[in-house]
Amino acid sequence: MDKIKIIGGNRLEGKIYISGAKNAALPLICASLLTDETVTLTNMPILSDIRSMNALLEQMGTAIDCFDDFVDGHPTKTYSYRTQKFSNLIAPYDYVRKMRASYYVLGPVLAREGHVELSLPGGCAIGARPMDIHLSSLEQMGAKIEIKNGYVHADIDGKLKGAHITFHTASVGATCNILMAATLAEGETIIENAAKEPEIGDLIDLLIDMGAKIEGKDTSRLVIQGVDTLHGARHKVIADRIEAGSYGVAAAITGGRIELINAQASTLRTPIEILKAMGVDVEEKENSLIIDATNKTLVGQDIMTDYYPGFPTDLQAQFMALMCVAEGASLVTENIWENRFMHVPELMRMGANINVHGHASAIVRGVKKLSGAPVMATDLRASFALILAGLVAEGETIVNRVYHLDRGYEKLEEKLKGVGANIERIKEAD
Ligand code: UD1
Repeated sequence: MDKIKIIGGNRLEGKIYISGAKNAALPLICASLLTDETVTLTNMPILSDIRSMNALLEQMGTAIDCFDDFVDGHPTKTYSYRTQKFSNLIAPYDYVRKMRASYYVLGPVLAREGHVELSLPGGCAIGARPMDIHLSSLEQMGAKIEIKNGYVHADIDGKLKGAHITFHTASVGATCNILMAATLAEGETIIENAAKEPEIGDLIDLLIDMGAKIEGKDTSRLVIQGVDTLHGARHKVIADRIEAGSYGVAAAITGGRIELINAQASTLRTPIEILKAMGVDVEEKENSLIIDATNKTLVGQDIMTDYYPGFPTDLQAQFMALMCVAEGASLVTENIWENRFMHVPELMRMGANINVHGHASAIVRGVKKLSGAPVMATDLRASFALILAGLVAEGETIVNRVYHLDRGYEKLEEKLKGVGANIERIKEAD
């Protein structure tokens, strides 16, 4: 398994191109299942999660092409997806266990074909991750759902029926799934307490371009009028706000200055406020964001994760790494996932002073320095937090289990090297 070696202490300065958003791309890929025409996605990130989703669709009968492309002068990839006819309607365990977001095939395949079988994803390191909202909403739309041998079997007689659905939690995954299903349902579907994350807005933009009728983008009440068929479309994936936030912290933690090209400040309001409150300069430009911590003394701030536009849970670990070297104390509260402090013991092995209280809160008291160590994390964002700690720590840090990072950070070493980090991947046979 590959490792990443970092020698800490370099101040980072320069520009980083922010890739297309993984969490937007995954539902966008599955939206292509709603039509027999071609859906083309530009500004796609090259990540193992995208490869996993492509493999799942290919085994269901989707023809996928990949082209080299340029977006705003940066080399990127464009993918086209065409599912003229399904070769099977099953999302098998071996695919779903690699990537939970495989559940995005549920809504589109059921709506178009009237039947789908999906292996239940199960829990993961950050929490139990139930699917009750996805399933009960489809039942309200007339689907018959059965759980057999670890698989969800979903069937409909004819078409899904529009329904008035209220989510008990503003789930991102359920919002995307039910939104996609409702585009081909009979009549009107209303989703109350829908999630409002920018990735959902991106999905709505594509669906509307495909011929769907949706109102309420960026609000918690979505109204969808079902149509008979959808058609092909071409769509540019939005910039990854979590990748942008992660590299923003890399600038802040090293006392550096990084321009995040393609980052959209409007999707990062709360993290930007926290950075500013800590003493970091943040300059918003039309198509970029400059994070400048040159000669700044950073002061700790409290953060509390919440549904969008609140502070994103997917940036909690990275900001906690930053709080470790800021002056004073910071209270970090995790409200979305029940087990998302697994980076804490590893940060403490590097010299951080953190006290965890129960599952949901941690007090971080800033220390003068961290020291390099071999570390590993159990999820994607926690792994990046360890990279950040390694960038500022004295000496050598080895981050193990790099496959987590490869799921969500495109060209990680290249991007960090480009702004002056001393970082390299150590290839090792499995
Ligand atoms: C997505 C993101 C993930 C992010 C999360 C919250 C993708 C691929 N992943 O995950 O990176 O951390 O949003 O911003 O986009 N819940 C239920 N029942 C359900 C579904 C969810 O109770 O049927 C609960 C979950 O346990 C959790 C909360 O709702 O406490 C939010 O989960 P959800 O928004 O669904 O997360 P994902 O879509 O899985």
